Amino acid sequence: MTKPVHISKKYKRELPPRESGGDFFWQMNLSKTTVVIGSQWGDEGKGKIVDFLSAKSDFIVRFHGGNNAGHTVVNSLGTFKMHLIPCGVFYPGTKLVITHGVVIDPLTLIKEIKTLEKSGVSLENRLFISPRAHIIMPYHRLLDSLYEKNKGKNKTGTTGRGIGPVYADKVSYMGIRLEDLVSPAVFKEKIALYLPIKNKIIKALGGKPLSFSKILKEYTLYARALKKYVTEPYFVLAEAAGKGKRILYEGAHGILLDNDWGTYPFVTASSVLPDISGKSSVIGIVKAYSTRVGEGPLPTEQANGIGEKLRKIGDEYGSTTGRPRRCGWFDAALVRFAARVGGFTGIALTKLDVLSDFKTIKVSVGYRGNGKNQGISGLDLKKAKPVYRTFKGWGKSLDNITSYKNLPTEAKKYIEFIESFVQVPVKYISTGPSRSALINR
Ligand code: GDP
Ligand code: IMO
Ligand code: MG
Repeated sequence: MTKPVHISKKYKRELPPRESGGDFFWQMNLSKTTVVIGSQWGDEGKGKIVDFLSAKSDFIVRFHGGNNAGHTVVNSLGTFKMHLIPCGVFYPGTKLVITHGVVIDPLTLIKEIKTLEKSGVSLENRLFISPRAHIIMPYHRLLDSLYEKNKGKNKTGTTGRGIGPVYADKVSYMGIRLEDLVSPAVFKEKIALYLPIKNKIIKALGGKPLSFSKILKEYTLYARALKKYVTEPYFVLAEAAGKGKRILYEGAHGILLDNDWGTYPFVTASSVLPDISGKSSVIGIVKAYSTRVGEGPLPTEQANGIGEKLRKIGDEYGSTTGRPRRCGWFDAALVRFAARVGGFTGIALTKLDVLSDFKTIKVSVGYRGNGKNQGISGLDLKKAKPVYRTFKGWGKSLDNITSYKNLPTEAKKYIEFIESFVQVPVKYISTGPSRSALINR
């Protein structure tokens, strides 16, 4: 850790009260910061692993994406599909943060809070949402679907939640932030300015223009419900880090959907990689086979009985949209690429149990043709022909196995091949959706 800079009393006095409240602000200790990132095209089981790691965390932070994410947590209260609230919510001692990088659909957030409260999980004094987070407006969702429709057979296959359009408005200085939503006069002024522009585009694309008064009425109610959670989390996190609290950053999506590093243009709008310097560990969530929803290349896709079997056993249907996920064999070259870009220090290998029923299991170790594992542009991968290595299956259930040494030999071989190929140690192995189905190696 870098040595804190000494600030003389004279200067401390000149700092605004919040920052001068102690030395925490100048001594960000991130040695207890862990980041969880998906390594494929999303749905790797991040929710399950974040829930597990939250038992030993003080703060859980969502830092990008929106309600295109669907993270599943299975516990004694039931099965929860989390879209915006960090999955560490089920441990009452944890605090929950949604930073400026996240885009918020207010109704989804309100519904999620209500669902949790109905199950006895309170958010009171635990949830901090950045006033800088951008708000998804009805025209974002409508434009998302109009863009898809107008792209025809070249559509992206988005979740339809308005994610691309809201991030586009953010970077083109036309966004509405949470701080605007909770200031009635500002909010009214902003939609009066932006809605006519959006309606022109909507009409040009064949859509029906939206009503100003309807949006105003609806969003005024959302503002009232969310106002109490709006607090700049930067100071909350800085103070926590200064006190040596354990902070867990919950990534959404997967590196192969990252706007820069993913299979562009078949990606999502946000940066999947967090911009946190000094993080101590990065756990890459790696599914034991491959899936993706929506369009775009999936070199190891099995559009046949094998893919159907993976979908059926793995229950591979989108947590957000319910769409069937495309399934295929594990792509070791792509996961190695993700591990490097993401700086993984450990892997949580999930859904290993899904492979128990396969006599042979294949893994792609590279490609023939021009789809090498550097520069994974959509075009390269479309033409890529995977080169497979075949493993013998273990042919028995992994239920109730809680230690690595008790795993079948063939399963250990599969795991050890993945870690040697990806060059990152496999630290956790998940063998079912529930909290207890996990081997901590
Ligand atoms: P996320 O978006 O990465 O959090 O993943 P999703 O929740 O969208 O999808 C993962 C699905 O697999 C969920 O239904 C989980 O309950 C389930 N799951 C997670 N880990 C395991 C596992 O090890 N085995 C099995 N069979 N299911 C798992
Ligand atoms: P979690 O957090 C799987 C995919 C969509 C589509 C592309 C763009 O649950 O892993 P978008 O709506 O983001 O503009 O769609 O990205 N996508 C996901 N696929 N899991 C996700 O999140 C996803 N988030 C976005 O299916 O192909
Ligand atoms: Mg998901």
